[in-house]
Amino acid sequence: MNTHKDYDAWMAETGPVAAAMRFAMSVPGQILVNTAAFRLPEELRIESTWSVLDVGCGRAGLARVLAHRASLEQPPVGVDASRGMLLMGSRDQARPSAPADGTNNVRLVQGDATALSLGDNLFNFVYSGHTFKYFNDEQLWHCLVEVRRVMKPGSLFLAWEFAPTTSPLLDRWNRFVLEAGVPFERLRGYRELRRMAYDAGFDWVQSANLRPFLLPPIPRVSLIMGKAPEGWRSTIVEGRRVMEPMEGLTVAGRAETLAAKFMAVNDDVIATVEAASDEQWRATCADEGWTVGVVAHHIVEGYPLITGLIQALGSGADVPSWTLDKIDQSNKEHATKFASVTKAETLKGLRSGGMAAANAVRRLTDDQLDRRADVLAGAPAMTANEVIENSLIGSATGHLASIKKSI
Ligand SMILES: C[S@@+](CC[C@H](N)C(=O)[O-])C[C@H]1O[C@@H](n2cnc3c(N)ncnc32)[C@H](O)[C@@H]1O
Repeated sequence: MNTHKDYDAWMAETGPVAAAMRFAMSVPGQILVNTAAFRLPEELRIESTWSVLDVGCGRAGLARVLAHRASLEQPPVGVDASRGMLLMGSRDQARPSAPADGTNNVRLVQGDATALSLGDNLFNFVYSGHTFKYFNDEQLWHCLVEVRRVMKPGSLFLAWEFAPTTSPLLDRWNRFVLEAGVPFERLRGYRELRRMAYDAGFDWVQSANLRPFLLPPIPRVSLIMGKAPEGWRSTIVEGRRVMEPMEGLTVAGRAETLAAKFMAVNDDVIATVEAASDEQWRATCADEGWTVGVVAHHIVEGYPLITGLIQALGSGADVPSWTLDKIDQSNKEHATKFASVTKAETLKGLRSGGMAAANAVRRLTDDQLDRRADVLAGAPAMTANEVIENSLIGSATGHLASIKKSI
């Protein structure tokens, strides 16, 4: 496929469809076509020091939005095969109206996503929006292998694309709409993309469930793919991929080890919730006396609270002290408020809250992990490490065991 040439030709057209597409890829257009991506800096806790790569960046609208919202210190790199797209992007950045804060100078590189002209282990975060559909299976495999190669150990690749539906008729219509300018190879669902990501060497893959996307009104599939931190490898245990430290190698730092341990539990909760039938979702967990749904959402509810606590402990800020009565009271209120919580809502919280918690843990130094403060009235002071082990990992593990017993 000569996608880049098609894009070059299309972007030079004067018709209304090409004009709409040009707008869609500009900075203001991103709020419509990549709506969910506006929250990425908060949801993924993108740090200002991160190196970021956009694969198939088009006019670099989203790269500029992220650079601005995450206050990136180094300009992100945007790779695209279409010279026309990149020229538009560089003209955008040269406009007098472009902010002069230095955060929007995306480094635009003309190149092929299936053979990146970039060195190994460079980026803390890579993303790609609406580009996979142009690749056949072999090209997509090469693209995934290449992206993994340029990622730093322990970093993430987030990708989203239009998704196939269950209706062949609707799929035909969606193809007609999406091919208004440039033909594409095909759309793939989550399972297929996940299999391909594993085949390409990614160590863990999860649905990112990015929502919403305002335009065009065609569903999206999104997934987040991880490259194992140094000293870790992934293996298949009972049909599930898990990460474990490699024998004989120096294990990653303490924080990274804790984060990986937590992610494994969170992945297990996600898989268990995904597999639960509607009937199982409503079953009662004997240990808590709540439904499976409420217990699963209770885990979600805890994540931001525990994450805040871990961050406060790490930074030496004031730590809110809890009492057992206060915890009981807030648990009761939660069980009532979320009595009919849905699986979709819970999964979303497990993914975004889990990711935020893992990132907060990952950032702690050994000294910060050992900082101690009063967390629970009447109990001995706890270190951040203990809060992570007992409250973050321990509580999710305990509730997960209870859910598994009940379904
Ligand atoms: C639909 S646009 C997406 C632009 C932007 N990522 C977004 O979500 O708005 C797809 C982009 O992928 C680029 N593209 C297609 N095949 C490519 C390849 N093999 N290597 C790099 N870029 C490619 C096209 O030139 C185009 O700019």
